[in-house]
Amino acid sequence: MATLLHLDASARRRSISREIGDAFAGSWRDAHPGGTYVHRDLAAEPVPHIGEAWTELCDHVLAHGITDVDRYKEAVRTPEQAAAWEIVEPLLAELVAADVVLIATPMYNYSVPSSLKAWLDQVTFPRMSLAGRRFVVATARGGAYGPGAPKARFDHQERFLRDFFAGHFAVEDATFIAAELANSRVDPALAHRRAEHDALHAAALGTARDLGKEY
Ligand SMILES: Cc1cc2nc3c(=O)[nH]c(=O)nc-3n(C[C@H](O)[C@H](O)[C@H](O)COP(=O)(O)O)c2cc1C
Repeated sequence: MATLLHLDASARRRSISREIGDAFAGSWRDAHPGGTYVHRDLAAEPVPHIGEAWTELCDHVLAHGITDVDRYKEAVRTPEQAAAWEIVEPLLAELVAADVVLIATPMYNYSVPSSLKAWLDQVTFPRMSLAGRRFVVATARGGAYGPGAPKARFDHQERFLRDFFAGHFAVEDATFIAAELANSRVDPALAHRRAEHDALHAAALGTARDLGKEY
């Protein structure tokens, strides 16, 4: 059965990344009436940061060459590690069960919100492969970071996530849908770029709706 895992990470409820993610998810759900849809709001219900017991689980998995997710729980040997595993297990189960992983995230400080980073830290174990799953990132940024933009080199959001998916999940073909120049809505110094933002925003919503039908 088709399964979509949808993550939100914006601290705002009226958020552009949420809106784009919702457009994708709405189309996907219409196209997969019998599918399973799982939504997790990492901003409203943050997952905890990893602690020492989590690192012990990770070290055990690494030392024993365990690459099968179903065998990770063999690493649990202490009550602290059991408590850490209790947090990880449902997050990992959701991720592994998904055919499509949709991450709606703002750019914060040139990168991703710490709520999303905390989730990535929880669910990522050594030599994991999620190859075959499709990753879609719906994103909003205050400025512009496309090719040729003066601030292009500061984009540690898309670059980070692309490298992360490739390096840790063996997923090379993540799709990014971005609405740039969002700060033109609020920053008088960027107001002259509002029409550009509106066009990018409308295009991102259209792309999200179209891709949601196809995935
Ligand atoms: C804490 C914070 C940090 C931000 N840092 C950046 C940044 O480094 N670069 C940028 O272009 N926009 C930055 N922005 C602007 C957001 O990317 C922009 O408001 C975007 O619309 C947020 O996505 P959302 O609408 O889904 O919440 C920041 C906003 C916040 C609240």
